[in-house]
Amino acid sequence: MSLPQAKLTYKAYAYKNGSSPIKIVQETIDLVKNPNGQGYIAPPGQILLKINYASLNPVDYKLYKIKPSFIGWFNPKQGFGRDFAGEVISIGQGTQTNVKVGDYAEGIYTPKTGKGSAAEYLLLDPKTSPITTKPTNIDLAEASAFPLVLGTALQLVERGGIKLANSKVLVIGAGTSVGRYVVQLARNGGAKEVVTTNSPRTADLIQSLGATSQIDYRKNPNLLQPVLESVKSSGQFDYIIDCWGGDDLFAEINTIIRKGGVYNTIVGDAPGTGLAALLGGIRSISRTIGSKLGLLNYKYELMLLDNNSGWIDQARDLIGEEKLKVFIDSIWPFDQLNDAIEKLESGRAQGKIVLEVSKPDGPTRGGPVSEYNPDPFN
Ligand SMILES: NC(=O)c1ccc[n+]([C@@H]2O[C@H](COP(=O)([O-])OP(=O)(O)OC[C@H]3O[C@@H](n4cnc5c(N)ncnc54)[C@H](OP(=O)(O)O)[C@@H]3O)[C@@H](O)[C@H]2O)c1
Repeated sequence: MSLPQAKLTYKAYAYKNGSSPIKIVQETIDLVKNPNGQGYIAPPGQILLKINYASLNPVDYKLYKIKPSFIGWFNPKQGFGRDFAGEVISIGQGTQTNVKVGDYAEGIYTPKTGKGSAAEYLLLDPKTSPITTKPTNIDLAEASAFPLVLGTALQLVERGGIKLANSKVLVIGAGTSVGRYVVQLARNGGAKEVVTTNSPRTADLIQSLGATSQIDYRKNPNLLQPVLESVKSSGQFDYIIDCWGGDDLFAEINTIIRKGGVYNTIVGDAPGTGLAALLGGIRSISRTIGSKLGLLNYKYELMLLDNNSGWIDQARDLIGEEKLKVFIDSIWPFDQLNDAIEKLESGRAQGKIVLEVSKPDGPTRGGPVSEYNPDPFN
């Protein structure tokens, strides 16, 4: 017996290409109706979620900016947003997952040219889009705020065979959402020295997370001299974890990092978008290839988050066991995504920027959401 088809219609943010506006549109998902008349059934292998919160990442905006005009011919509704938290509405037949219908869950929606998490509903394949149950000690807004950045931080401190215990680590961009986790992981992993670059406004926070000394990137627009001073006073670095991007250190890299040390970056030689970032990316990719060929004294990788490596449960447990803190800059109403993006683009966010898509139906544990007020340029 074939079940009746149904279209789920809902509001979502979408754009045609990188030069068209990001606006609220009507989206649809083709589903089948539950035979009992109540709700929908997700297709085999997929999970249907009602989204409560979506947190924004710089990559959302970078992806939007680079999408050429022809992309709109294939899909005129390119979705916006990756991180989400919400309620599991339906799980299709044969789906391998640890979430159940009615659970609150969080994760990352990974297709880059499909829909996005800034939407009332999301249909995803858990084989490619990591999803797990919400820790009970945080609320749903906080749950949306850690998947992509914590997953990235976990991989940054693992790739290249890093062993943090007793090591000397440099964290470039410790004030970024990713960097805050890297500093906490370095401290938890037993690093003996954690040198960070951040601005004075995050100095106390970064120290409380585990930095043993700090370099003010505003006073030192080129990091080379202060980093060389650190090498002079307490020796070479074992690991450099770059969460902001830049190429200041390569002029003297063999003095700064020990032979066999690891330099992992998620941005490469030039932050931002445009030609400089493209050329910086090419240099970083060439260095990554050089490292793989054994041409460098240290290991170097320009890395992308690997969504398929099963880290989402590890991330959930670290938050659930209160080994790591979640940071939210501000929570924005659903109709103010473009203002939220402006704050994201300012490069001044103190933690994650979260979009409230819909308030949860039931109580979910956590701190008062009202404490995070949108304040565009605090
Ligand atoms: N490759 C990947 O898989 C991957 C994954 C995630 C993110 N990323 C990239 O990683 C970068 C960081 O992302 P995010 O979401 O963590 O960033 P974010 O939270 O938006 O970072 C904002 C923070 O950046 C810091 N900052 C601004 N200018 C800086 C500078 N010149 N040097 C050092 N820090 C500076 C500021 O900290 P202060 O308070 O100290 O001023 C600010 O609070 C982005 O470029 C993003 O696209 C890549």
